[in-house]
Amino acid sequence: MRMNLSRNHEIEWGALRVYEAADYNGMSRRAANIISAHVILHPACCLGLATGTTPIGIYEQLIRWYEKGDLDFAATRTVNLDEYRGLGPGHEQSYRYFMNSRFFDHININRENTHLPDGLAADPEAECRRYNAVIRSLGGIRLQLLGLGRNGHIGFNEPGGAFELETHLVALTQSTINANAPLFSSRDAVPRQAFTMGIKSIMQAKAVLVAVSGEDKADIVARAFSGPVTPELPSSILQMHPDVTLVGDRAALHKLKESGVTVCD
Ligand code: GLP
Repeated sequence: MRMNLSRNHEIEWGALRVYEAADYNGMSRRAANIISAHVILHPACCLGLATGTTPIGIYEQLIRWYEKGDLDFAATRTVNLDEYRGLGPGHEQSYRYFMNSRFFDHININRENTHLPDGLAADPEAECRRYNAVIRSLGGIRLQLLGLGRNGHIGFNEPGGAFELETHLVALTQSTINANAPLFSSRDAVPRQAFTMGIKSIMQAKAVLVAVSGEDKADIVARAFSGPVTPELPSSILQMHPDVTLVGDRAALHKLKESGVTVCD
């Protein structure tokens, strides 16, 4: 779809590339390939990173290529999407702990170049301002990796939130608390709030890479990428980003394909 902004400026909507892999490993490899390309071409680039179960295989693949000597993260900078409020870096379910143990501990990245919101910050508003300033100081995000929440959230931007926000504090929905509960000792142990980059910060990334896997994402993937753009489905805004790559396995993509969206060879 094309939209004329003025006589001289035209932006293109719907610049979506979809790559299909047979399974989770294939999806992880393809997504890792795309991240690698950015790191190789722009060693000091700022990568936007994500947590969740989906990207675990992507980080494992990147670590393997690093160990083989094919990747060098010495100059790379990272900003993560989100962090639970109330969890410190030592808490096993904090996103800082996840990133360190699943990725940063295994590559030659300078830990000072890795950024997440501080879940223990005493003043949430000041923390949001600090995090926005960090993203700006890094020159913005070159490639933002995203998973998809079961209700269509990205980062922790839950349905109904405003599209124009940068980093902010959110109240998690019951469906997100339930989805994340298996990772905690009990449902009551899941934090009720989180810091998240806003949709505005995500949309300002030069390129976006969405990774999806499994049948339980098929419905939300189809709605997000072929249905109406609405704050009720936060990831649907990605249809308006000029450079989005969606990488998924067959199980996650089949409903999107049924809706008529074509897959790259
Ligand atoms: C959490 C994270 C999201 C992630 C989502 C999906 O809510 N905040 O960034 O995309 O979970 O996780 P999974 O990949 O485990 O399905």
